[in-house]
Amino acid sequence: MIGLMELIQSVVWLVDRVRILDQTLLPQQEVYLDMTDFREVAAAIKELKVRGAPAIGVAAAYGVALGALQIKTNSRTVFLRRLNEVSEIIAATRPTARNLFRALERMAKVAASKGSVSHLQEALVAEAIQIHREEIAATRAICRHGAKLLQDGDIVLTHCNTGPLATCGYGTALGVIIEAHRQGKKVKLLADETRPLLQGARLTVWEAQKAGVPMTLITDNMAGYFLKKGEVNCVITGADRIAANGDTANKIGTYTLAVLAKENKVPFYVAAPTSTIDTAIASGEEIVIEERGGDEVTSFQGVRAAPEGTMVANPAFDVTPNRYITAIITENGIIRKPFQKGIKRALA
Ligand code: MRU
Repeated sequence: MIGLMELIQSVVWLVDRVRILDQTLLPQQEVYLDMTDFREVAAAIKELKVRGAPAIGVAAAYGVALGALQIKTNSRTVFLRRLNEVSEIIAATRPTARNLFRALERMAKVAASKGSVSHLQEALVAEAIQIHREEIAATRAICRHGAKLLQDGDIVLTHCNTGPLATCGYGTALGVIIEAHRQGKKVKLLADETRPLLQGARLTVWEAQKAGVPMTLITDNMAGYFLKKGEVNCVITGADRIAANGDTANKIGTYTLAVLAKENKVPFYVAAPTSTIDTAIASGEEIVIEERGGDEVTSFQGVRAAPEGTMVANPAFDVTPNRYITAIITENGIIRKPFQKGIKRALA
């Protein structure tokens, strides 16, 4: 359908190993890392070598599969105890993306099924591959549903990176824009650079260029300027966790964009697979926000910007209350208000 997904494979399973495209080195270097130890996968998630909620979920599942293959025992009890340790190590990498925990829950369910250790190992690899396949299919459907919301001539503002790199599939927010472009609509992308780690400047620009989508890069603090001038027709972002009421956690700065969009009467869409929805939490108040190291703010790629000893806050995500969200684009259709009901229906 789009072609870009086939070009960019951020996570691939290869019989007994997982291959990850190191996103921290893009766009300067395209380096693929082959991993046979689940601890390498856990470190890659923590260090953002693989990032974006759906891709984190897929990598986590493959990490558990690798961990299962690494356990050398015939005892089911020993196997399950060690597999539980593998899962705990992967769970401790990043707290916010729902996809990671959903993948771990699915893998744990398979591990609890009947059979010998070798049968369980095979079943765990198969489940990880299945989780990946489902994310690919979900993003494909999201792109198709979302593209219907875009009109010829639209300028679409997005934040962070939500393409094939972030999803191991066709993308969510960026995928929607790429699909509209592919369908021949004359859409233009306005990409936020996304401080502090520049996922927008480094990754979204890289992907949009490959897809041939006309694009302008702006710094995060320019978004209000363009919204007020009437030069943005809609905002689309991804999500890391969506609560039962539609409140959405996404990359830090998303909330600011949503408030600016409402103030300027511009629709604000969230595009995410249902694997990002967490119906166990009633609202965004319950979402755990990852706090990352201060060096990500004081320096960039080893170059220091702020003086030594600077006090830093570095929340990686923020929560956008549902009142700012126009609609949520999922693989099961577009959810409009009231979100609680729509989310239930989309998950049914
Ligand atoms: O810290 P990151 O780079 O993993 O954050 C990614 C985002 O916030 C994305 O917008 C989100 O995961 C959606 S990915 C389709």
